[in-house]
Amino acid sequence: MKQETREAILALQKLYPEKRSALIPALHLAQNEVGYLPQEIQNEVAALFGIEPNEVNAVVTFYDMFYEKPIGKHLIHVCKNLSCMLRGSDQLMGKLCQKLQIKPGETTSDGRFTVIPSECLAACDRAPMMLVNEKVVGPLQESDLDHLLKEADHA
Ligand code: FES
Repeated sequence: MKQETREAILALQKLYPEKRSALIPALHLAQNEVGYLPQEIQNEVAALFGIEPNEVNAVVTFYDMFYEKPIGKHLIHVCKNLSCMLRGSDQLMGKLCQKLQIKPGETTSDGRFTVIPSECLAACDRAPMMLVNEKVVGPLQESDLDHLLKEADHA
């Protein structure tokens, strides 16, 4: 990590009574710099917190918003939680992955799109919904997917 990211993480730690409480925002800072969180970055973060790398890895692998592998230019989170599932998110995910010729969790071979299955994204009133490049879209139908991908690609 860059020195400024390391310093920002150390400054974050001072905002909390327990420095470990700053772990999630610290991981966001590291990911913003690097684009994802490979093991060596997780190790660096662990060292800054004085904890074991596997403790950092447990957090990274628990949350959908952290990535251990490089991600595509456009990131699509597909909510698979209850409200979205009841309104057809499984079928939407299937169709989206079919169009992109990938499986959930994968990145297209041209590096343009990554599709991540997610837990509730707090927009249940828009079910079935997705987060496309951090923008909430929904309720969606299969017929919206071509336009959605085209729009994301031109963003
Ligand atoms: S269940 Fe999909 S946004 Fe809440």
